[in-house]
Amino acid sequence: MLVGMSCLSGTPRSYTDEQIAFWEDEAFPVLEENCWKCHGISKKIRGGLILTTLEGVLKGGEFGPSVDLKNPEASLLLKMTSHQDKDHEMPPDGKMSDEDIAVLAKWIEMGVPFPNADEVEPEGEIVHHGPDYEKAKSHWGFRKPDQVAIPDEKLGAHPIDRFINKRLKAAEVSTNGRAGDQVLLRRVYYDLIGLPPRPAEVQEYLADQSPEKFTNLIERLLKSPHYGEKWGRHWLDLVRYAETNGYERDGNKPQIWRYRDYVINSFNQNKPYDRMVLEHIAGR
Ligand code: HEC
Repeated sequence: MLVGMSCLSGTPRSYTDEQIAFWEDEAFPVLEENCWKCHGISKKIRGGLILTTLEGVLKGGEFGPSVDLKNPEASLLLKMTSHQDKDHEMPPDGKMSDEDIAVLAKWIEMGVPFPNADEVEPEGEIVHHGPDYEKAKSHWGFRKPDQVAIPDEKLGAHPIDRFINKRLKAAEVSTNGRAGDQVLLRRVYYDLIGLPPRPAEVQEYLADQSPEKFTNLIERLLKSPHYGEKWGRHWLDLVRYAETNGYERDGNKPQIWRYRDYVINSFNQNKPYDRMVLEHIAGR
């Protein structure tokens, strides 16, 4: 009954009554309600996929054709709507009912009849959603820093304190008093290496009379191998580091520790950010 199959070369398709009825009563309402707001009817087209035209369905989006007419069950559209593709679940805000998914499966099996394809009009001009490079250029991260005047000396000894105190004063908030040596030492340890100081290190620091003792402490902790372990973790979180794959096929990644150690060592070597990004792109 797949009357419309020859149409793929561009000739208009003809449909059986059964196909037309199925489209009107079943497939069209499901697509319209669940998919079209992101895939055709509104100005923003998500994933480069238009589902309001037959051409759009067959061509697909960034990942290629949404339907596989030779092997309907393997269609990308079905994998996503039935949540077999865990990274891309459609619609993104919640799974449809099994009945609705079955409708889409049958629609593909019937050869995606789309009798009124020409009548579906998007609201206004279609704009493909993607990065706006012109707008991005004005982001603060891409602009040269402006030289700003440092607030008055009366606001604090260190220039950074002055900026903070200026805002606090404006908000009528006052600072706590200075932290004592012991409190400061503990904070610095946690911030830089993620571990508390040993009792002997506390004693040593408290006994130290040198005016450079704080600077020396910072230098020592920055040189510690634990520094990379503590701060590399933030990078590993951002790249979603894991030692297994996750989800139900939760296989191990037995070699992934090499990447973990590379990140830790990079932090310990004080590798600049641009070099780090370059190495990631090169190693992809
Ligand atoms: C709220 C917006 C939204 C809705 C509603 C939605 N999608 Fe998507 N869709 C997306 C986004 C965003 C992508 C891009 C990939 C991603 O982020 O997962 C996408 C990608 C896809 C893709 C892959 C396209 C490609 O080749 O790159 C398919 C197939 C798809 N959607 C099918 C559907 C179907 C079928 C429905 C309705 C049942 C639907 N989507 C509803 C937002 C949506």
